Amino acid sequence: MSGNLSGPISHWAGMTLTIDKAPAMPAVIRRLVAADAQDYRTIRLAALARDPDAFGSVYDIEVARPLSAFAERLASSTVFGAFLGERIVGMAGFKTESGPKDCHKAFVWGLYVRPSARGQGVAAALMAALIAEARLSVEQLTLAVVEGNAAAIALYRRFGFAAYGVEPRALKTETGYRNEVLMARVL
Ligand SMILES: CC(C)(COP(=O)(O)OP(=O)(O)OC[C@H]1O[C@@H](n2cnc3c(N)ncnc32)[C@H](O)[C@@H]1OP(=O)(O)O)[C@@H](O)C(=O)NCCC(=O)NCCS
Repeated sequence: MSGNLSGPISHWAGMTLTIDKAPAMPAVIRRLVAADAQDYRTIRLAALARDPDAFGSVYDIEVARPLSAFAERLASSTVFGAFLGERIVGMAGFKTESGPKDCHKAFVWGLYVRPSARGQGVAAALMAALIAEARLSVEQLTLAVVEGNAAAIALYRRFGFAAYGVEPRALKTETGYRNEVLMARVL
């Protein structure tokens, strides 16, 4: 993780992470497992409904999926949840590539924090947990973020991601095409 680590503490998967922004209430970060599928589905659908432009998937398709599909995604990806009390307020995941020549990389996806919990370091805590875990198994992280998503791009830069290109018209939505900024970070 880049930057100086100081300040309040967030607990994650038995480890203690220190994040450098004071949340009103420290978020507990832990990996989501199949048993969290209902909570994961709830926040995933909220993300797609609230910020449709930030994601490649669409609400109408995911809302029709059975709960088992969400449980399977939690098994095939590494997804972290941020909890304030019992409530899941944020999530972020990575999926390791599967080919013989690209399995040293993982793709970061699905970062979202509920509007009511933003600006308190929740995404930063999620990214710190994600990077610490990814380091154990891969050498490099990549991601794609819609051009113009200043908050997310600033967050990724803060965590050491650098843009290496822009895919023009990467997404086609009901309101037009969206370019995506492609970013990577060597761990
Ligand atoms: C992007 C997002 C995850 C940030 O969540 P958050 O919990 O509010 O972020 P944090 O409070 O942890 O902020 C961490 C860093 O992110 C950046 N950041 C967060 N919100 C920002 C904003 N509104 N403007 C500029 N930078 C911002 C800053 O670098 C910040 O560090 P700083 O406060 O020390 O400057 C949140 O706004 C969100 O869920 N957006 C909609 C979904 C989305 O865009 N996901 C990304 C898909 S690729």
